[in-house]
Amino acid sequence: MTPKIISFVTLKGGSGKTTLLMLTAAAIHNRTDKKLLVIDSDPQRSVKQIYVQENNKSSYDVFAFNWNQPNPEENFEKVLTIAQSKYDLIFMDLPPGRITDAEIYHSILQSDALIVPIVASVLDINATTTFLENIPEVLKNKKTPLEVYGVINKQDQSIEYKHLTKLAGIGGLQLFYSPLSNLVRYKRGISTVNDITSPEFKEDEFNMYFDEFCTKCFIV
Ligand SMILES: Nc1ncnc2c1ncn2[C@@H]1O[C@H](COP(=O)(O)OP(=O)(O)OP(=O)(O)O)[C@@H](O)[C@H]1O
Ligand SMILES: [Mg+2]
Repeated sequence: MTPKIISFVTLKGGSGKTTLLMLTAAAIHNRTDKKLLVIDSDPQRSVKQIYVQENNKSSYDVFAFNWNQPNPEENFEKVLTIAQSKYDLIFMDLPPGRITDAEIYHSILQSDALIVPIVASVLDINATTTFLENIPEVLKNKKTPLEVYGVINKQDQSIEYKHLTKLAGIGGLQLFYSPLSNLVRYKRGISTVNDITSPEFKEDEFNMYFDEFCTKCFIV
């Protein structure tokens, strides 16, 4: 079966792309038999750095892709073709930026699904709206279907939440019903090896998010 390719992406920096990707990847790694590759396309190399720090232990595979090389698009396609023959699932971590930036544009073209972390601040909501409004332009050049999912991240008590529902439907966005709160454990618990929690705790908000992720992305 062709592996699913899922990009964690948005215009806004610091919304939780890398955090969400790494929490989800660690849960996939520990709870399923899926062979997972993370392609780190962010020049900050956040995932790769933690992978290197933890390299004495068994983690999922991480490949850092350099978009500042000659013909990056061609090489990216080659890397993906090889990866698709070896892995069941491919996650892509992207830097913040415009949808027309090469790494974001080409990653979306290759993806089956996007996970868009959304923080409920006016600045984040405006940036996310701009990002989502431009998705149809990319879809014109996309040969395969794309699911676009929004995940509320760093949820707190702010009153901005009612504005988030306005995002649903823009660029095909479907909002997850399970948010992630603003919690210290999501800062401290980042690992390419260890799961953030045990799947036994059914009421744990991460587990509720993860169940929804697996259902929506057909990961069984
Ligand atoms: N749910 C959360 N609770 C608490 N802290 C969080 C949460 N999500 C993310 N953070 C923190 O917010 C900061 C930004 O998160 P992260 O690096 O994952 O965002 P990003 O979208 O990948 O950023 P960039 O655009 O720079 O790549 C980090 O310090 C991270 O630990
Ligand atoms: Mg990041």
